Amino acid sequence: MAFLRCTGCDGVFDADRPLHTCPECDSLLEVRYGELPALDLSDPSPESVWRYRDHLPVEPLVTLDEGGTPLYSAEGLAEWVGLENLHVKHEGMNPTGSFKDRGMTVGVSKALQLGVPRIACASTGNTSAAMAAYGARAGVDSYVLLPAGKVALGKVSQALIHGARVVAVRGNFDDALRLVREVCSSDEMYLLNSVNPFRLEGQKTVAFESVSELGKAPDRFVFPVGNAGNISAAFKGLREWLDLGMIEELPRMTGVQTEGARPLVDAYESGADDVTPETDPETLATAIRIGNPVNGRRALQAIRESGGTALAVTDDETVEAQRKLASLEGIGAEPASAASVAGLKKMVERGVVETDETVVCVATGNLLKDPEEAVEVSPAPVETAAELGAVKHAVGL
Ligand code: F0G
Repeated sequence: MAFLRCTGCDGVFDADRPLHTCPECDSLLEVRYGELPALDLSDPSPESVWRYRDHLPVEPLVTLDEGGTPLYSAEGLAEWVGLENLHVKHEGMNPTGSFKDRGMTVGVSKALQLGVPRIACASTGNTSAAMAAYGARAGVDSYVLLPAGKVALGKVSQALIHGARVVAVRGNFDDALRLVREVCSSDEMYLLNSVNPFRLEGQKTVAFESVSELGKAPDRFVFPVGNAGNISAAFKGLREWLDLGMIEELPRMTGVQTEGARPLVDAYESGADDVTPETDPETLATAIRIGNPVNGRRALQAIRESGGTALAVTDDETVEAQRKLASLEGIGAEPASAASVAGLKKMVERGVVETDETVVCVATGNLLKDPEEAVEVSPAPVETAAELGAVKHAVGL
């Protein structure tokens, strides 16, 4: 049986109350379970979020067949990074093109179970795309707050076509999240940002699938970090599996941010146990253009408890890694996703990561989310006359 536990005051609450934060102290809530069964990973059923339903707090009331994303063995990229054993979990292959679908199938199922009429989120883009799609499938009205002018085109188009009411806020993501949390303070509107403990439960399955596919826990997971929900969710799942004896050791949780938006890295480096918000985050990786990560404290715990680390990369390093993912492996990832690979390369260079570690890099979102950026950082197409000689010349024949 699932229940909610406050991460601040340890208060315990019924999982069927539509709570966004602790009613006593306003801290974040976490889903806990009376008892979890150990799972038999040799069971041949295909990978998916709902393969792990015994470790999830709701029934699948709405699904688009999320999860089951490819875990690629990336030999070319491994060589570039300087590792022997690198895997890329391509979360961009989820139904709406990002890892958010794992959380939304669970979060929107919870909304249906609670019978709430409306769902809402603030987003740098992917959360809104996923929520709009699952909202559409569930027949629930979706409301989305986006930072005006700072969301990649593919993501805005998804939120719009799936029928969400899209509000462009003249501010950044942190402003939009603060506002949507206020808008959702009544029972009328259910908040699906990563403050929502049910959404995070779905997201822990990226770690489950990786362990199951590798046949063991990797030595390290590398995540790009924005609001810090995904790395915290994966760690929660891994801790549950450690407690059940399903894995023997915790993989080192490693978070990567960009130089223009690095509050978690600063907190990690200074030894603080919570983040100091950055007021003016800026990066080409708009998905993680976040100055005040709501799950920062949890992510710091995950990183420290697992012996992991956090570091920042430049936008140029991110783009280089994005191009290497695309050109060496055929993996199309949006910039934020590629930050994880850029960070890994830097850690290998600094000797923080041993070359014989088995590493899983999580590529969180699809290249097609941000086509404008991909065109901008690539050589322009060669335009020729519609004539054989000109075409032959253009292709170097
Ligand atoms: N990668 C991508 C592609 C993302 O869209 C996000 C977050 C992250 C990484 C970071 O994950 O927030 O759990 O640390 N996107 C959110 C959104 C904020 O609104 O779509 P996180």
